[in-house]
Amino acid sequence: PDTRGAEPPDTTDLARLRSAASGCRGCPLYQDATQTVFGEGSAGARILVVGEQPGDKEDLAGEPFVGPAGKLLDRAFEEAGFDRTALYVTNAVKHFKFKRDERGKRRIHQKPGRTEVVACRPWLLAELRAVRPELVLLLGATAAQSLLGPKFRLTAHRGEPLDAPEDVADLVPSAVATVHPSAILRAPDRDEAYAAFVADLKAAGKMLA
Ligand code: URA
Repeated sequence: PDTRGAEPPDTTDLARLRSAASGCRGCPLYQDATQTVFGEGSAGARILVVGEQPGDKEDLAGEPFVGPAGKLLDRAFEEAGFDRTALYVTNAVKHFKFKRDERGKRRIHQKPGRTEVVACRPWLLAELRAVRPELVLLLGATAAQSLLGPKFRLTAHRGEPLDAPEDVADLVPSAVATVHPSAILRAPDRDEAYAAFVADLKAAGKMLA
C-alpha cells in the first residue's frame, strides 16, 4: 500500500507537524476526505482534549469540533469553567470516515476502526509531545482506547482519574475519559446526559493543581 508521509517528523513544532500531517497516507481515509483535520489550540495548553474523528463540518472547515458536537462542547467547557482558548483540541483519527446515503448526497459518519486508530496514533503522540499537557481529556471510547488500549471500558471508568499504560505514561501524566459530545446529542434524556458530561468536565478540572 501507498503509505507515504505516514510517519510524523521528529519535531515538537506544531506547525511543522500540521503541515506533514496534511500529506499523510498512513491509511486509506485520505482518499475520500476533503483534508486532514489536525489539532488546534495553544502549544502551552494545560489540557489536551481528544475526540474521535472530524465530522462533516470539520472535514470541510479543516478545524476540529466546529459542528454540532463542537457547539455542545463549547457550551459545556464554558459551564465547567474551562477556557477553550487555553485548551488544545484534537482527534484520535484525523480524517473524516463516512459513507454516502442512498441518494449519494449526505455524508454519514462511520466509526473509525482499530486499524485507522492505530495508523493515526503516531500523530496524536506527536501532538502530546509538542504540547506536554498536564491532563488529557478523552471524549468517547475511540479516543480513550487510542491512548489507553482497546480493553478500556468507558462506561466503567468515566469521570475518574486514570492511569495511562507505561508506553504513554510520560506523555499522559493524568487522564479522564467521558462520553463523546455526539452521544449527548443522541441521548434519550439529553438534559441528564449533558449534566453528567459537565460534571465529568468539572471533576477533570479539579485534577489540575
Ligand atoms: N466529533 C469529533 O470527535 N471530533 C470532531 O472534531 C467533531 C466531531
